[in-house]
Amino acid sequence: MSEEEQILGALERLRGDFAARFDAAASEPSLREENAKILGKKGELTAILKQMGKVPGDARRTIGEKVNALRADVERAFEARLLALARAKRDEDLHAAPFDLTLPARELAPLGHKHPISKTREELVDVFRSLGFAVHDGPEIELEENNFTKLGFPPDHPATDMQDSFWTTGGFLLRTHTSNVQIRAMLGHEPPMAFIGPGTVYRRDDDVTHSPMFHQIEGFLVDERITLAHLKGVISEFAVRLYGPGTPVRFRPSYFPFVEPGAEVDVGCANCKRPDGTRAGCNVCKGTGWLEVLGCGMIHPVVFEACGIDPERYTGFAFGIGIDRVAMVKYDLPDIRLLFENDPRFLAQF
Ligand code: FA5
Repeated sequence: MSEEEQILGALERLRGDFAARFDAAASEPSLREENAKILGKKGELTAILKQMGKVPGDARRTIGEKVNALRADVERAFEARLLALARAKRDEDLHAAPFDLTLPARELAPLGHKHPISKTREELVDVFRSLGFAVHDGPEIELEENNFTKLGFPPDHPATDMQDSFWTTGGFLLRTHTSNVQIRAMLGHEPPMAFIGPGTVYRRDDDVTHSPMFHQIEGFLVDERITLAHLKGVISEFAVRLYGPGTPVRFRPSYFPFVEPGAEVDVGCANCKRPDGTRAGCNVCKGTGWLEVLGCGMIHPVVFEACGIDPERYTGFAFGIGIDRVAMVKYDLPDIRLLFENDPRFLAQF
């Protein structure tokens, strides 16, 4: 038998049975397998094509046309069968027993709950709202001017250093405190005003009481005749409402460029509190029995001037509370980093 006759015979056989072979495939994978046996690299039609070289020139054209026509028919039949199988599968799904959405769940997914930082922040916001403060927002990526300059930081202040703050480009940085909210509020409002600004802040810090990302609540009140007594009253009330009567609070004179006078406020360390109310001293409070939770003071006239407020007419106080520190005292935490490790065994306790 000539090469030509052999090829024609093989083509005839394939033409005679490919449709039945596809019809016999009952699933998509077996259909694809059958298709590969015909059109694949080692497939029957591919083998025929390889023999074409041996066919003399004039016959090659007619046989070539037959091969191409058969290939097109095979491809069409494959696509049609693929579609038919998909339709059959869909019909089967549609007629299957319906999915009953009203059935009770076999196992209830455990409910999540708020992070201790969120709980503490909400509690603090509630305390200050009940004292008449309104919430004011401020951005986490801030201009140097609003984070430092307008707050009276000299250009060479260590906090402005690359080592202490996270700088981006173009005079922007991740705000190092929520005091930028003071500037933004005073630029946009006339006194009297009483705002709090809760939010996230960033510094190059990292130890048991210092986290590189932490949270503060700024608070400030500006009006005529505001004095240090108002500040002490608000802070003392905040400590009592948050920690209950009897929690020791102390004011220590301190320096911040944007207040005069300035103070830091400590509360009794909860980590080493004895049953009789005294403190043993521990690594959280560095042996002192006190944990610093906020900075505060009377707003410096240079801040008022930078924001276009008359310092001869208005006075005010401001404070910045470390929310994470408040949470440490509240929940008795020995290490601030526990709050950010996302260990479910720790978080499930709150
Ligand atoms: C300030 O950030 C001032 N802006 C606060 C202020 C506002 C003073 C208004 C006067 C008037 P200070 O750097 O001390 O101050 O931070 C305030 C509080 O944030 C601290 O008392 C402490 O509770 C908390 N804190 C500071 N650094 C960290 C840190 N790395 N991790 C967690 N808490 C921190």
